[in-house]
Amino acid sequence: MKIINSNNEYGLLAKLFHWVTFIVLIAQIPFGFYLVGLEFSDERIELENIHIIIGISVLYLTIFRLIWKFLNPNPTSSANAFKGQIFIAKANHFLLYISILLITSSGVLKKLYMGEELNFFLFKFGFKETNFKLADTFYQIHIYSNYLLISLIVLHIVAVIVHHIIFKDKILKKIT
Ligand code: HEM
Ligand code: HEM
Repeated sequence: MKIINSNNEYGLLAKLFHWVTFIVLIAQIPFGFYLVGLEFSDERIELENIHIIIGISVLYLTIFRLIWKFLNPNPTSSANAFKGQIFIAKANHFLLYISILLITSSGVLKKLYMGEELNFFLFKFGFKETNFKLADTFYQIHIYSNYLLISLIVLHIVAVIVHHIIFKDKILKKIT
């Protein structure tokens, strides 16, 4: 299997990016909802730190994934069952990337405006001044972009099932 994409299939690296992100997000989203329900304690702080480390890793992963995407050919769409289908697929993919970037950057900005220093692995960074109003705004963005991501994932999976059952075009083969 080739590392780079071909015109009709994703390469090894794009596949890895896709499935690693899937596995991490499927754990990280419920983890976030679980976290907010916890009482304030040392355990909660520890879990929040894990949530942040995973979140910042997803941010890096998505940036590398997008760089890789633009260096590679895009596999062509196998089916064109109805008008606008390719546009809908592209819009879904574009918004999936946007929502992941929004979630991760809003989480980071919430913490930074709270006056906390974050470990970005290669360096540590913190703002000099706090702004609790902006911290709250970014937290609202964090919550709503999670709802957006969940809806887009559902749509994405329903589309794959429809492709298999109705269009019978085995779209999954492109990315597995
Ligand atoms: C967290 C969940 C998921 C996210 C965020 C996600 C995201 C994405 C993105 C962004 C792309 C476009 C890749 C590109 O060209 O840049 C893509 C493609 C694809 N995904 Fe997912 N995905 C998820 C889960 C799944 C699952 C569970 C399946 C299978 C049931 C799946 C099947 C596919 C297929 C078949 C493609 C290729 C579509 C095409 O080229 O037309 N994905 N995914
Ligand atoms: C893709 C990555 C991420 C996902 C899917 C995610 C998801 C979530 C979800 C679903 C919640 C619960 C929201 C609610 O209902 O109130 C949450 C809370 C939270 N997230 Fe994230 N998050 C991610 C990345 C990050 C990052 C990068 C940071 C910070 C650097 C962060 C910081 C937080 C904090 C601090 C909370 C809890 C806030 C509180 O209760 O005070 N998250 N996250």
